[in-house]
Amino acid sequence: MISDFLKYQAQTSPDPLGMEISHALGSYIYDSNNIPYVDFVAGVSACPLGHNHPKVTTAIKTQLDRYMHVMVYGEYILKPAVDLSKLLAENLPDNLEKTYLTNSGTEAIEGAIKLAKRATGRSELIAAHKAYHGNTMGAMSVMGFEERKQAFRPLIPDVRFIEFNDKKDLEHITKNTACIILETIQGGAGFIEPKDGYLEAVRYRCNQTGTLLILDEIQPGMGRTGKLFGFEHYACIPDILVMGKGLGGGMPIGAFTASGELMDTLQDHPKLGHITTFGGHPVIAASALATLQEILGSDLMQKALEKEALIRKILVHPLIEEIRGVGLMLALIMSSKDLANTLILEAQKHRLILFWLLFEPRAVRITPPLTISNQEILEGCHIIIDILNRIK
Ligand SMILES: Cc1ncc(COP(=O)(O)O)c(C=O)c1O
Repeated sequence: MISDFLKYQAQTSPDPLGMEISHALGSYIYDSNNIPYVDFVAGVSACPLGHNHPKVTTAIKTQLDRYMHVMVYGEYILKPAVDLSKLLAENLPDNLEKTYLTNSGTEAIEGAIKLAKRATGRSELIAAHKAYHGNTMGAMSVMGFEERKQAFRPLIPDVRFIEFNDKKDLEHITKNTACIILETIQGGAGFIEPKDGYLEAVRYRCNQTGTLLILDEIQPGMGRTGKLFGFEHYACIPDILVMGKGLGGGMPIGAFTASGELMDTLQDHPKLGHITTFGGHPVIAASALATLQEILGSDLMQKALEKEALIRKILVHPLIEEIRGVGLMLALIMSSKDLANTLILEAQKHRLILFWLLFEPRAVRITPPLTISNQEILEGCHIIIDILNRIK
């Protein structure tokens, strides 16, 4: 299978992990020899309820038997998509009321940027150094990592970069700026949280200049930080909220939410300002709805903070310099890039799934399913400590 994988399936890097999967359940992924691996990554934060959660699979199967794709996004009334959008609105601040469902996070970012340009009539976009918002051309234009985008230039013009957490840089936001786009917690950069009232200052400056604030919650969203969305930890409400990954409960999705007034600007002058065939797909929306209902109706968000405490208590080792992040969005910062690499690769040999972050080579991602048990956390953390003990 590995040779077909390498020959017929396009790769994203010269050295993919290449593990063949048989099935997955709860906090475990099973390889083709039926060997279970504790999953400390959750599909890069895309599986908040773990693998094949019965409420999610039941919702998918029920919807499958009713109908799948019937019409392009936005024409027919498809109950799962309506119910999902409504439940989001009921659990968001009043201005975040109307949701556009897309197929992926990057497409939701495209939609959010288009909405900001269309609604303000301005062209300048501001983003942060080391930001990651996706891989399509618009999202890549606001990616703050030149090395990965240079080969694809020219990208969209009129993008300016500022330093995340540097309030002085906010003076670059002016009445010419359509939007500033930020990850609430910078993911690829190494799980960098906003500090010292940074997001509040961004909000203030946006209010002064009539600039729209887009917060990308594709990673911190869906309960991972102990609240449904990361921005709820701060006195800062975005004009446009972007979601993805965990929202789908293991199915491909993206979404952006804004006020009705703002969102309605996309539907006219020009008409069909953002269109998609599969966005709001009923089976995927059913999966997302079941996932959101489970997160809201359980103590998983509150438990995320207790689980963080447990992880921090066990993962104390001289080779771990720091643990960044909050809740179950954590990153071990190792003393070197090589050490981070060794840990991730050795962990796979010892039946634990770990992963990298995009732009911080010393980081090791720990973003398990929110449903992971304390016992499973102990199992995974002890594998990490054993590997590090063998190194030092
Ligand atoms: C913060 C952030 N924004 C956007 C994206 C893009 O989402 P997708 O891969 O679903 O297009 C990602 C994916 O990793 C992300 O982490």
